[in-house]
Amino acid sequence: LADEEVADIAKALADYKVIFFRDQPLSARQHVDFARRFGELEIHPFIPSNTGVPELVRFAKSADVGGYENGWHHDVTWRETPSKGAVLHALEVPATGGDTVFSDAYAALDALDDDLRGRIDDLVAVHDFAKVFGHGMSAEERATMREKYPLVEHPVITTHDITGRDLLYVNRFFVSHIAGMDPDASTELIDELCKPFALLEHQARFRWEPDSVAFWDNRAVQHYACSDYWPDVRVMERASIIGSRPSRAR
Ligand code: SIN
Repeated sequence: LADEEVADIAKALADYKVIFFRDQPLSARQHVDFARRFGELEIHPFIPSNTGVPELVRFAKSADVGGYENGWHHDVTWRETPSKGAVLHALEVPATGGDTVFSDAYAALDALDDDLRGRIDDLVAVHDFAKVFGHGMSAEERATMREKYPLVEHPVITTHDITGRDLLYVNRFFVSHIAGMDPDASTELIDELCKPFALLEHQARFRWEPDSVAFWDNRAVQHYACSDYWPDVRVMERASIIGSRPSRAR
């Protein structure tokens, strides 16, 4: 792609938050080469790549392995520098089901009433890989990974570094608690903040075909992979682009 085309795609992503391409029969190499035009790619420490290309993670579901990405989340917010975007390519899709739904994090923030918005203005959320990836790990493995990936704090309201707009940056997958809050109040607040992501008015739902590609802004949207096709096969590959540390501009 020419630099101008890459710039057009980046602009569309900032404007629309998630963009879709049909009929892109990408090889693994072409997939990562495309994603790398937008920044350095991450290597996921908990999901083995299985593709021969370390930067490409494969999600292969079948009668033996059901989908577990069926909850609202931004990817890898347990990193100090979570991904800023992800490119997902469908290799094999079920005859029905398996859609991915995206929900707008700017709209989620705008939907909060003034009182709640005021209360969260200075709060920071604590993000923990172990909430999802700690299951099935031995205590020793967990301790080793904890050393590499300590709990991280990100502002509950963060400012998108390209659009300059504030968005709500709290997800049920990885936020363990709100720093400095009593545990019950923290759980209640996280629940409250996750509700606007579930509003249908904030969402786009994508029906996959083989060789469809979705490119989402991992700050501006959360996503939810519908797990409604078992025992069918669904095989997807994802390349994720490293972002900057989330922060709040005042
Ligand atoms: C993911 O959660 O990144 C995977 C999304 C999907 O498989 O649709």
